[in-house]
Amino acid sequence: MKVSVLGYGTVGVGVCSMLEAAPGLELRYVLVRPGKADKPFKVTSIEEICADPETDAVAEVMGGLEPAYSYVSAALRAGKHVVTSNKALVAAHGPELASLAAEKGVGFLFSAACGGAVPFLHNLALAAESDRILSIGGILNGTTNFMLDAMQRRSMDYAEALREAQYLGYAEADPTADVSGLDALRKIMLGCAVAYDKLPCDGFSLEGIESVTAEDVKHFQAKDLVLRLLVSGGESENGSIYAFVQPCLLPASSPEASVLNNFNMAKYRGENAGDIIFIGQGAGRFPTASAVVRDISDILHGRREMMKASCVRVAADNSAVKKRYYVRLPEVCADSLPFAEKELDGNVVRGVTEEIAVTEMHAKAKELRLGGAAVFFAAMEG
Ligand SMILES: NC(=O)c1ccc[n+]([C@@H]2O[C@H](COP(=O)([O-])OP(=O)(O)OC[C@H]3O[C@@H](n4cnc5c(N)ncnc54)[C@H](OP(=O)(O)O)[C@@H]3O)[C@@H](O)[C@H]2O)c1
Repeated sequence: MKVSVLGYGTVGVGVCSMLEAAPGLELRYVLVRPGKADKPFKVTSIEEICADPETDAVAEVMGGLEPAYSYVSAALRAGKHVVTSNKALVAAHGPELASLAAEKGVGFLFSAACGGAVPFLHNLALAAESDRILSIGGILNGTTNFMLDAMQRRSMDYAEALREAQYLGYAEADPTADVSGLDALRKIMLGCAVAYDKLPCDGFSLEGIESVTAEDVKHFQAKDLVLRLLVSGGESENGSIYAFVQPCLLPASSPEASVLNNFNMAKYRGENAGDIIFIGQGAGRFPTASAVVRDISDILHGRREMMKASCVRVAADNSAVKKRYYVRLPEVCADSLPFAEKELDGNVVRGVTEEIAVTEMHAKAKELRLGGAAVFFAAMEG
C-alpha cells in the first residue's frame, strides 16, 4: 500500500521514517508548503496527491481545521483511505468524514488523535462491536500529568512545573489547551463517538489544573491522596451521554496514581470484559507516528471504520453523575456548598462535600470565581 503524507513536522517526519521500514507499506509523496519541496517525493499540491493513481492512502498529520478538512475530504472523495492524528479535526468534522468514507468504501481511522501510541480507540472500537461499553476515561493529557507529578513527587510549584514541561517540549509556549483540559476533552469526545456512536459537542463540564497550588498538594499528600486530571465519558440509563474533565483525588494505591511523568492511561469498562487499562506515551514523534502507521496497517488488513457513518452529534448531560468533591475556597464562601466535613486553614476552608452533581460543582465554582473567589476542587475517586 502506497501512502502519501500531509505535513512534514514532528509527527510527519516520524511517519515517513516508519513507512520506510513497515512491511507492505511504502511512502509515496509528502505534502509540504510551496517553496519547501526540496526532494522529488515532496509535492505542494493536494490535487496532485488526489489524482495520483498510485496513492492508496493519505496520512493527515498537518493539524488544524483548515485546510486539513478540505484536504481530507478531497482525499476521501478521490477514493483514498485516510488516517489522521488530528483530534481537533475529528472532534469538529468526524461524522461528515466518517460518512464520506463509508460512501466511498474507504477507511477512515484516527487512533493517534487520542492517546498517541496508546492503542485505546483501536481496541475500544473493537470492544464496542461485541460488548456494551459502560464507561471510558483515564489520563489523556501527558503535559498536565507531567506537571501534577512534578508538583507531587518533586515538590515543584505550578509555575516551575510548567516551565520544566515547556523546556522538555511537553508543553507549548501557550499551554492553555493542555492546562485548561480542552485537549483532554477533545479526546473524550472521540472516545464517546467510538464507543456510543454519539459525538458530544456541547454541555461539557471542563476544569483543568490551573487552580492547584503547592499548598493544596501538601494537604493531599498528608492524606495519602494523589491528584490526576481525569476524563470521564459514558452513556446514562436514559441514553444521554456524559463527558467531563476534572482534577480527581485518588488513593496512592490506585492505577492512576502509578501513571508518572508524561504518560497517558486510557481505560474502558466493558459489561463483560470488566476494566481494561492501557498505559503508554500519549505524544512525541515516534509514539504518535506508531499509531498513525498502525492505523494504515489496519486498513491494509481490511479495517475501515472507527467512527460509524451513523454517528450523531449530541449535547453532553452531566447532571445525573454525582461525586463527592474536595474543595478549597475562601472562608466567606464556606456556606455555598454542602460540606460533609470541613476545616479552617488560615483564611480558607478545606473540606469534602456531600455527593453533588458534576454540573452543580462546576457551576458553583464558576459563580464563585466570577465573584472574585479563588477556588480549587477535585472529585474524590476510588
Ligand atoms: N506532536 C505530537 O506529539 C502529537 C501527538 C498526538 C497528535 N498530534 C497531532 O498531530 C498533528 C500534527 O502535529 P505535529 O506536532 O506534527 O505538528 P507540527 O510539528 O507543527 O507539524 C505540522 C506540519 O504540517 C505542515 N503544514 C501545516 N499546514 C500545511 C499546509 N497547508 N500545507 C503543507 N504543510 C502544512 C507544517 O508546516 P509549517 O511548519 O511550514 O507550518 C508542519 O511541517 C496535529 O493535529 C496534532 O494535534 C501530535
